[in-house]
Amino acid sequence: MNGNLFRAKALAGEIVRGLSVNPVRECEVVLLPTFVHLTTAKRLASGTDIAIGSQDLDERNEGAVTGGISASILKDAGCSFALCGHSERRTLFAENDNQVASKFAAAIDAGLIPILCLGETLAERERGKTADVVFAQLDAVVQRVGFKGFSRAVLAYEPIWAIGTGQSATPEQVEEVHASLRERLAKGSSEVAESIRILYGGSVRVDNALRLFANENVDGGLIGGAALDSESFLKICHKADATVC
Ligand code: PGA
Repeated sequence: MNGNLFRAKALAGEIVRGLSVNPVRECEVVLLPTFVHLTTAKRLASGTDIAIGSQDLDERNEGAVTGGISASILKDAGCSFALCGHSERRTLFAENDNQVASKFAAAIDAGLIPILCLGETLAERERGKTADVVFAQLDAVVQRVGFKGFSRAVLAYEPIWAIGTGQSATPEQVEEVHASLRERLAKGSSEVAESIRILYGGSVRVDNALRLFANENVDGGLIGGAALDSESFLKICHKADATVC
């Protein structure tokens, strides 16, 4: 919930221009502005390979849901991706694993690619519960859509203690969780486990992106604060392009 129309336009425009001058070769770039700025970002990115996604969606299709934004409305606005279960949605809006699973299913049904966010609190990590927490978050969605439901989906591991704190997880911590998520998916579908992209998010910056992305099981990043500055976001895109794809 950063900025305003003026800044959203400037930021998306700078990213579009930056990538047209110095394109990424392999990796995919997705911009996830606020709902209100989606169509502006879409217009600025038209004719490029940059995709647009939402930061959330309502799990219902349509009807009397005042203030809700459905997956089909997002499709209309030009989205091809939708974040599901970002930790701020889970904590500030009390979204539970079941509701996140419904959002994920609604995104798939509408032809959007869901980006499912998973992650533990610092207290959970310190109690040695990281795997339990992310598996429970993943399993709730597997129960709803099956393993095959992940064939057009993206995972984003985002430890809550690393989001917006400046304290990224270490490459080893990230790799451990990513590998375990892939293993978990492999129990149901080796095809899905191999092909799914698992992003890392949480204080990714220009200076740590390469080390994080260089891990075998890290397929990209979900960038928050560093994406509010086009120059740093563009540099991070190029680090991803050099390592993960
Ligand atoms: P950050 O945010 O990169 O600022 O830590 C990540 C996020 O908002 O998901």
